[in-house]
Amino acid sequence: MKVLIATEKPFAAVAVEGIKKEIEAAGYELALLEKYTEKQQLLDAVADVDALIIRSDKVDNEVLDAAKQLKIVVRAGAGYDNVDLEAATAHKVVVMNTPGQNSNAVAELVFGLLVFAVRNFYNGKAGTELMGKKLGILAFGNVGRNVARIAKGFGMEVCAYDAYCPADVIEAAGVKAAKSQDELFETCDIVSLHIPATPETKQSINKALVGKMKKGGIVVNTARKEVINEDELIELMQERTDLKYVTDIMPEADQTFQQFEGRYFSTPKKMGAQTAEANINAGIAAAKQIVGFLRDGITKFQVNK
Ligand code: 3PG
Repeated sequence: MKVLIATEKPFAAVAVEGIKKEIEAAGYELALLEKYTEKQQLLDAVADVDALIIRSDKVDNEVLDAAKQLKIVVRAGAGYDNVDLEAATAHKVVVMNTPGQNSNAVAELVFGLLVFAVRNFYNGKAGTELMGKKLGILAFGNVGRNVARIAKGFGMEVCAYDAYCPADVIEAAGVKAAKSQDELFETCDIVSLHIPATPETKQSINKALVGKMKKGGIVVNTARKEVINEDELIELMQERTDLKYVTDIMPEADQTFQQFEGRYFSTPKKMGAQTAEANINAGIAAAKQIVGFLRDGITKFQVNK
């Protein structure tokens, strides 16, 4: 059996070592395709593999057609919007993710971005503190819960809304449950996005919603760029010169957002899950899930049916 790690944005070397150990201990072979720049490189590399470990790498119908022996794809991470699930099912390929494995890393980056934002991007002028501010967490999954834990350490008031998580579950975690997405934006000083990119959430963070924020509101995005209605956010930030947007996923309209000097920042490349720990956790979990599936038929964490 041959397992391929195909990562346009590579794992830390220590994580690749850990994955190699797991794969070889099962008697399988590991191949590596890192930092590829052309889709053709991926198409060539998948030709003879049984299993594939990816990150945000796109697995579409063409990749699945090229991977004649492929049985399983594991997205080492949480969001699997980069995999065409229907096409995978049609090709009889199992798709899994590794939920929770990189969530602390992403949550820590939320605060890296927030301190940077409230201290005016370190321009020397007096900023504000996070203590005492009200943080709204949109979607209370693995990342959202870690954000809540860290926010309490900063002395923030924490509130959350999740369309799929009941209020009593949120309250049981010591977090105030907002009744709606609108209420979260209306009442919080800062909103941190943790929704997946789905047909329902795409472009859902729009002018009407962000426009509900109080003076000086900040939106921090470590989720997906697709959830933002970029044109409307730009329009709103032109009208509301008090609002800030900080993101770990560079917008399509990054050049246009650059006009908001001192109110906008994007990492050049998504860095949320880019820690040795997250790479090790997610990478080794992916390797274990592949061995568990190929050897014992375990389909826990399968996301296509
Ligand atoms: C995820 O969905 O797990 C995160 O967005 C991390 O993505 P990455 O593996 O491409 O850094």
